[in-house]
Amino acid sequence: KNEISIGLLGFGTVGSGVATILQQHQKDLRHKLGVEVSIKKVLIKNKNKDRLASLEPEVFTTDIEEILNDPSLDIIVEVMGGMDEAKEAIEKALAAGKQVVTANKDVMAEHGHELLKLADEKKCDLFYEASVAGGIPIIRTLEDGLASDRISSLMGIVNGTTNFILTKMKQENMSYEDALAEATALGYAEADPSSDVDGLDAARKMVILSSLAYSTEVHLDDVLIRGMKEIRDGDLELAQGFGYTMKMVGSSTKDEDGIEVAVEPIFLPDSHPLSSVNNEFNAVYIYGDAVGETMLYGPGAGSLPTATSVVSDVIAACRNILLEVNGKRVHAAQYERMIKPEDS
Ligand code: NDP
Ligand code: HSE
Repeated sequence: KNEISIGLLGFGTVGSGVATILQQHQKDLRHKLGVEVSIKKVLIKNKNKDRLASLEPEVFTTDIEEILNDPSLDIIVEVMGGMDEAKEAIEKALAAGKQVVTANKDVMAEHGHELLKLADEKKCDLFYEASVAGGIPIIRTLEDGLASDRISSLMGIVNGTTNFILTKMKQENMSYEDALAEATALGYAEADPSSDVDGLDAARKMVILSSLAYSTEVHLDDVLIRGMKEIRDGDLELAQGFGYTMKMVGSSTKDEDGIEVAVEPIFLPDSHPLSSVNNEFNAVYIYGDAVGETMLYGPGAGSLPTATSVVSDVIAACRNILLEVNGKRVHAAQYERMIKPEDS
């Protein structure tokens, strides 16, 4: 095999970033993998939008079936967002034995377990690094880097939009509405930004991280979610006066009483490292019995940072394909594709 073909579902903030990285890093990818990796088809909704892309106009389609039924495509990259259609597309691609990459935390938080099981049955892989914390490789860290440890808790900022809003309100005295509009214009906010500001997006990410950290099924219904509405007028100024910073924090702990997961606005002392995580940046502390404390920090949203994670997943998918087809030894991480219940 000397070429790997991608069907890209979505060409918005993340999808266009994926195309940019694949094009700009084409030579490096060829060097790393020994094959060409190219986008052959792209799903969009609106044919009249100016795409500002180097891709040929013929690759764009509004017919998802044209992509999902194309046997020549090796990898399906789902970056269209939403729930039902995206989930069905992932299912269909996995059922056809394709490698799938997604950035969709909505789908992964609510249906990740069944989709990973399907991937396992079909002997293919479902990669989802970009679903949590944009450009931070946190899924791989939990799956691989810290696989040897027993993780007892996680704590962090996992939503870029709310962190951007709180930073602008604190540092530039910007109004909530203006800060949200800017986060939306920069491509950080979800299609429906209420999931950012109401804490649902962060809760979904904490579900994904907690499931991986504790190798069990954690459900969205079990997460305590308190959004930005809980922040009252004057709270930010009050915090500042006492040397505190308001942050939307996700936390998750596992002990003998069970697992507790929450997302809520919290006053942190200015000396706390999370207090200085600003704008769209995210950071997550991981506490493990053996490693102690580890913190990952980086851009949590935005086109190229998120696309970096997506393209890294594409590379992992390419390695799977090459290993299978060419029998070539490649440096590939071993994935525990299914999250197995603890006692199995
Ligand atoms: P955008 O809204 O910017 O892009 C969505 C793309 O999908 C658009 O190209 C849109 O078409 C296309 N699309 C959506 N629905 C349909 C449909 N029914 N049929 C055909 N095409 C469709 O979203 P993002 O790129 O921001 O996000 C994509 C995914 O990545 C989401 O799951 C999001 O949660 C996740 N994500 C986003 C991050 C970010 O920073 N933005 C970070 C991490 C994850 P058209 O262009 O014609 O409108
Ligand atoms: N809307 C999300 C955020 C995108 O602001 O964090 C990244 O997942």
